[in-house]
Amino acid sequence: MKIIAVMNQKGGIGKTMTAASIAYLLGEERMKKVLVVDADQQGNISMTFERFEPEGAGMSELLERHQAVGGTYSTAELIQTTPYAHIDIIPANGYLMRTNMKLLLQEKEDQILRFAAAMLEVQDVYDYCIVDCGLLMDMTVTNVLVAADMVIIPAKVGGFEIEAIENMQEQIEDLRSINPDIRTKVLMTMRQKNQTSLQVEGWLKETSGHDCFTTAVRRSIIAEKATMAHVPLPKFSKGCVVTQDYKNVVYELLKDMEG
Ligand SMILES: Nc1ncnc2c1ncn2[C@@H]1O[C@H](COP(=O)(O)OP(=O)(O)OP(=O)(O)O)[C@@H](O)[C@H]1O
Ligand SMILES: [Mg+2]
Repeated sequence: MKIIAVMNQKGGIGKTMTAASIAYLLGEERMKKVLVVDADQQGNISMTFERFEPEGAGMSELLERHQAVGGTYSTAELIQTTPYAHIDIIPANGYLMRTNMKLLLQEKEDQILRFAAAMLEVQDVYDYCIVDCGLLMDMTVTNVLVAADMVIIPAKVGGFEIEAIENMQEQIEDLRSINPDIRTKVLMTMRQKNQTSLQVEGWLKETSGHDCFTTAVRRSIIAEKATMAHVPLPKFSKGCVVTQDYKNVVYELLKDMEG
């Protein structure tokens, strides 16, 4: 199982859209076995896959009360099916905020190794684990990054995206002593055809030195409609431009991961 985290410390730049679209396409089009993990207390990707429960068990229990840390839960017990045959999910909810605080206050050595330990249990069951991260580098996200093979960093043009990408790269560098093989790949999201967009894209691909997807995901109102409907975009609209772009992203991703 390859673990792919979608993370950027900026809000509303398409992390959840990217994670949900990639997970859906890998599972329902490419027939991979996919485990979606919600690492955001907002629970947005849990909502997208219809498994959000404000009081339900999920990522909090995995980090706090897994058998690997003396608790009672196995990973399998925390996994739920979704409406899609090839896609399962470990959901999250607002309790994840409290989990972060608890882990932060503990001074145990396994504090940031818990997600990795729990994923070992299912590493032969799934081909891909797609993690939708929250926008803070909190204990949950640190746990995920320690275990991740790749981090997709979505970047939306029109703010402080260059600074955000540099920040992310620096923080991932700091984790390299624990996870030396972690890779990052920047993905432009909500691309529009204006001068600023093209300039940032040019900088990213030619001068920044960061590995990035050739595909840039375009902006379309249909993406917002899919979010409002709580449905993965490629399911909501098979043919829209954003779905086409995510298909190309998945093509690049598979070429990258499987050769
Ligand atoms: N390609 C796109 N074109 C138009 N709108 C988009 C696109 N991608 C995402 N959006 C919209 O932008 C908003 C934010 O997207 P999303 O929820 O994926 O961001 P996020 O980074 O996960 O946010 P948060 O930081 O709150 O978790 C949503 O309303 C979504 O529908
Ligand atoms: Mg999100």
